[in-house]
Amino acid sequence: MPATSLDQIVALAKRRGFIFPSSEIYGGLQGVYDYGPLGVELKNNIIADWWRTNVYERDDMEGLDAAILMNRLVWKYSGHEETFNDPLVDCRNCKMRWRADHIQGVCPNCGSRDLTEPRPFNMMFRTQIGPVADSGSFAYLRPETAQGIFVNFANVLTTSARKLPFGIAQVGKAFRNEINPRNFLFRVREFEQMEIEYFVMPGTDEEWHQRWLEARLAWWEQIGIPRSRITIYDVPTAELAHYSKRTFDLMYEYPNIGVQEIEGIANRTDYDLGSHSKDQAQLNLTARVNHNEDSIARLTYFDQASGRHVVPYVIEPSAGVGRCMLAVMCEGYAEELTKAIPGEKLAAVGEALNAFLKSVGRSEKLSGEARDAILARGEELTQALAERLPEVEQLLAMPGADQIELGKKLRGQAQPLIDEHYRTVLRLKPRLAPIKVAVFPLKRNHEEIVATAKAVRRQLQAGGRMRTIYDDTGAIGKLYRRQDEIGTPFCITVDFDTIGQGKDPALAGTVTVRDRDTMAQERVPIAELEAYLRDRVNA
Ligand code: GAP
Repeated sequence: MPATSLDQIVALAKRRGFIFPSSEIYGGLQGVYDYGPLGVELKNNIIADWWRTNVYERDDMEGLDAAILMNRLVWKYSGHEETFNDPLVDCRNCKMRWRADHIQGVCPNCGSRDLTEPRPFNMMFRTQIGPVADSGSFAYLRPETAQGIFVNFANVLTTSARKLPFGIAQVGKAFRNEINPRNFLFRVREFEQMEIEYFVMPGTDEEWHQRWLEARLAWWEQIGIPRSRITIYDVPTAELAHYSKRTFDLMYEYPNIGVQEIEGIANRTDYDLGSHSKDQAQLNLTARVNHNEDSIARLTYFDQASGRHVVPYVIEPSAGVGRCMLAVMCEGYAEELTKAIPGEKLAAVGEALNAFLKSVGRSEKLSGEARDAILARGEELTQALAERLPEVEQLLAMPGADQIELGKKLRGQAQPLIDEHYRTVLRLKPRLAPIKVAVFPLKRNHEEIVATAKAVRRQLQAGGRMRTIYDDTGAIGKLYRRQDEIGTPFCITVDFDTIGQGKDPALAGTVTVRDRDTMAQERVPIAELEAYLRDRVNA
């Protein structure tokens, strides 16, 4: 079962070093996060997979890495200066600011309905260029990477000699001054996008839009999000971005946040190339473009077959790396029973849970809303206590639960059982896993075992080029658990048999390889390890 609460992922991300709040030692910066040692590996692996699939494995793609800072005119003609706005309202009671379309007329902070009329708020960050601060010396931090591709269209076309249809892929940072950043990595102010601008002959755009929809769904499945977990939202005309003729949003059901966009696949027509082009009147444009007298280039393509210059239409699949990482972690997350709990111990926790819920039901300290929420969650747990015991932690973290004295007793009964009988496992596709292999010595003070384990690590890292770590900081069972929860697909143990001092001489030169998902163990000769693991870690 995937994660049932975003808190599980937030806690794991913090505990194991995937994600840290930015500048935490100074109180943080809202809507900005840092990727820790494991987070950067997972993020890089996601990006590498996206690049491999969309650039290397196709015959019709080029890559690009455009600068974040661009001439301000880019954002004038792209339409972002005028239209990249969110509707902002102020609460007159508590002075908080909100996105009008997120709050349904009630301030989420104080419950007041005394809100100002919505007014547009431009989400682009401004920065100063050069030493003189005047109206002509500022630039924007890009709110999408796409424009770097459009303004380089002619450069890429002439240097690569591509024919339509072809695309340009780019991965990079984007910045949006979100009014209410929230939900961990889901809505942040600084994030990375993986974007493709795919240029096609006008008239073939709808067909290509469908093809990209299929291609992108296949990629999501490839990285571990089953097709059944994604819904396609055909964005209604009234909600379309200013450049779009039609957009399919791919939606994933995140715990707590609900069904939300992970990728947009837009038909941007000839809007962007047309808006950035000179001589617009002669280009037969279909989109309502921004009149441009500043551009020095015609952004057209010469079609040999018709002998005409055309402005290509654009299909744009655009996904956020952070939202992708969050979805992959939610989807792969599981808290699993590894060995049966004795009946009497489970019954004792069941009784403690019932007593806690009764006390919640009677409590006058809790609001009706908090009480109902705890009781509903508690009832769910009671139905399947053996499978879901670790969720007691989330139950006790719900608003108001800390007011109930019997919560301490419940935690005291549940925690030792959780520690002994469950594991947290992150079932990432092996090729996305931050660490592919962890090598352990059975005894950390045995010179030969340690030296052999370290040699195995070096061999796999250098020769097999798979991220391999050595760890001797605990007993093997504990080390397995630590690797399970960060998604390491294989653990290797070097023991006395490996060095020829065990009971079975036939096992000399072999190690135990343990599979994260099945927990099955196999003896593999060290000489064959690289070959054994190579395909498996790239699955
Ligand atoms: N170039 C098109 C474009 O930027 P978008 O729908 O605004 O379209 C594309 O953004 C993707 O970028 C979204 O599907 C989402 O994955 C990601 N994204 C957008 N805003 C984000 C934010 N504030 N925080 C995290 N990811 C965001």
